[in-house]
Amino acid sequence: MSFNRKDLLGLEHLDKTEIQTIIDSARPFKNMFTRSIKKAPALVGKTVVNLFYEPSTRTRTSFEVASKRLSADVVNIATATSSVVKGESLVDTAKTLEAMKADIIIIRHTLAGTPELLAKNLNASIINAGDGFHEHPTQGLLDLYTMYEKKKKIEGLKVLLVGDILHSRVAKSNIWALTKFGAKVRVAGPPTLIPGKISELGVEVFYNLDEAIKDVDVINILRIQMERQQENLFPSIHEYVELYQLTKERLAKAKPDVLIMHPGPMNRGIEITSEVADCSSAVINEQVTNGIAVRMAVLYLLAAARKGENYVHSN
Ligand code: CP
Repeated sequence: MSFNRKDLLGLEHLDKTEIQTIIDSARPFKNMFTRSIKKAPALVGKTVVNLFYEPSTRTRTSFEVASKRLSADVVNIATATSSVVKGESLVDTAKTLEAMKADIIIIRHTLAGTPELLAKNLNASIINAGDGFHEHPTQGLLDLYTMYEKKKKIEGLKVLLVGDILHSRVAKSNIWALTKFGAKVRVAGPPTLIPGKISELGVEVFYNLDEAIKDVDVINILRIQMERQQENLFPSIHEYVELYQLTKERLAKAKPDVLIMHPGPMNRGIEITSEVADCSSAVINEQVTNGIAVRMAVLYLLAAARKGENYVHSN
């Protein structure tokens, strides 16, 4: 087994073999989902803590379900009603959880680098559930898993990421994983929402969605982050919809068997029409199901690595 790390902080520093190990380990977990008893004893006696400083539906619930399916004890910290509001620091909060014998802490935070900070200060394993604009590794992994499942390969696939690449940790994790596996990655969006140096990561940049969409195998639509509208990064939602919304008409320019993905939460009627979100090419709900299998694999592999003597620390 090629995964021997204490933490999962991002996909940038994982090699292809480690990512492949996670994907391969997720498959038997997904097979469990059709059984009447969807549980395995792999994490009996282990404590998993969800520490989310930002809202989440999919990732937090998915980690909770994944942990419970592996028979772990799960604790969810609602930071709004915790001692965080009294000024307790992130590291002190996490060390308090570790003092209660948390084995794995899953953190989502608005600031890039917070999972790494915890990984360096704690013996517990840390999983990054999204840190600022940096990475969302388990989303990148579940997207990769879904593409594998549907297209049977990654190498040579033309994958288009559309929208707010600048603020998207999902885009970053997708790019790191897909390029390691030989996919041809395109990004498309307004120039103000595409980082200037993104092409250095080996992706092709398009500002015209109708051009970008030609011949692609997969389209991964990113959420327009409405909370960033005050930054005036594009003139108006109306203009964004005109130029970058994924519509049935635009979809006709892609391959007939194109896969439509969205990490969620979706803004229907903005980055994607309901007609496209609900069409037979869309696998948005399957991504959610696959997210549980992939997160089970990550939890399982981290717990297994902790049993070994020589697992790789992040510091
Ligand atoms: N895709 C994703 O991270 O969704 P949540 O914000 O609901 O967790």
